[in-house]
Amino acid sequence: MKILLGVCGGIAAYKSAELTRELRRRGATVQVIMTANAERFVTPLTFAALSGQQVMTSLWQPVNSDVATDEAHGFDIEHIRVTQDADLLVIAPATANFIATMAHGFSDDLLSSVCLAAKMPIIIAPAMNSNMWSHPATQSNLVTLRQRNVHIVAPGSGELACGMVGDGRMAEPMQIADHVFELGQRTSDLAGETILITAGGTREPIDAVRYVGNRSSGKMGFALAESALARGAKVILISASTAIPVPVGCDHLRVTTASELEQQVLTQLDRASMVIMAAAVSDYRVVSPATRKLKKQASLTLELTQTPDILRQVVQARAAGTLVVGFAAETENILEEGRRKLREKGVDMIVANDVSGSDTGFESDDNAGVILWEGGEVRLHRASKRSMAGRILDHLHGVRKESVTPGTDVPLARSPSSLDPIFSG
Ligand code: CTP
Repeated sequence: MKILLGVCGGIAAYKSAELTRELRRRGATVQVIMTANAERFVTPLTFAALSGQQVMTSLWQPVNSDVATDEAHGFDIEHIRVTQDADLLVIAPATANFIATMAHGFSDDLLSSVCLAAKMPIIIAPAMNSNMWSHPATQSNLVTLRQRNVHIVAPGSGELACGMVGDGRMAEPMQIADHVFELGQRTSDLAGETILITAGGTREPIDAVRYVGNRSSGKMGFALAESALARGAKVILISASTAIPVPVGCDHLRVTTASELEQQVLTQLDRASMVIMAAAVSDYRVVSPATRKLKKQASLTLELTQTPDILRQVVQARAAGTLVVGFAAETENILEEGRRKLREKGVDMIVANDVSGSDTGFESDDNAGVILWEGGEVRLHRASKRSMAGRILDHLHGVRKESVTPGTDVPLARSPSSLDPIFSG
């Protein structure tokens, strides 16, 4: 893959040096273009050494002077030529200013001119102060870019260069590289699908300030939403208690309790052609939560009652052709529990994941587990949630393509050959 990597002026430019290395490690050719401000943070020499190519920094200095004039085709303009050679344009970090520049179509330097001339897919990895990120102007520019099919790798939360803590930290180089290769290798294979995804953990109030909850961060569901958007699907994301930025371009609804989640899922179900219940739904709620804050006492007994199983209701209420995927968060007997839930919940697919350790499952950036369906099972080795999301969607897409009449009583198709079957029968 030939990648054009645009680097804008932000502290996160140093992470793009690592990104350059990672993209090359995975076999890509990387041509770096730096803005004038980027050169204030990292020197072109660093990128030249890591990419193995001279860095482009100005509209007025063709890198290869010997190809500047092509008699057969006229004057060879560098910022046009590079866009014709590349498969993908990645902007990392994309500053608030550069995002505005792209949204409004300005072309007053090399990188912005390349963006306007580019016909290939574009991925941006924003990085900025959290107030700049959440400003309506930036958010509206991002929506504009998303509508033009620019892919956005959402920033993470954490300590920012300005000392603030919040959203706006550029995604990690590995995450951006996953996104780049996913996009480079796939077409819009999920175009036409509307995928309803639930994410995060529901919270059931005990009183006005306390709740019963779980450790789900929502990262898996959000990774699925980003991956599905990148593959052309329309996404309805319903999230409970998450603190991570919402992928730009999805219809997003926020809920708190299992009962609110149930209501929203059932309301949105008619619009969906696929449902992925990645949310960790509380199995219990407090029977009579106090409306005010309870005063501390030596001991407290809570009466809990079961919440409705939303997944089962989805299976019963879905239209023919709507594929339903459940998750099973397990600490032991992952395969057996996955098989039991597949059977008992009547879903098309279960993703059973291991939440026992600290390096996979809840709160972690990685996950591992197994995908189960009626005709077989596929092991998912430990990988980033983003990459696992890709595998889950590959499989779901395979089911959609190969099933005769997808629906409740049709045996599901075999796994696409790109996956590793560990069992079939
Ligand atoms: N789920 C749901 N409604 C609930 C509980 C779970 O829709 N009230 C969904 C989850 O979103 C997940 C699947 O059911 O997709 C399995 O959730 P899990 O907690 O693993 O299973 P449970 O049925 O709750 O069984 P257990 O907690 O005993 O393992």
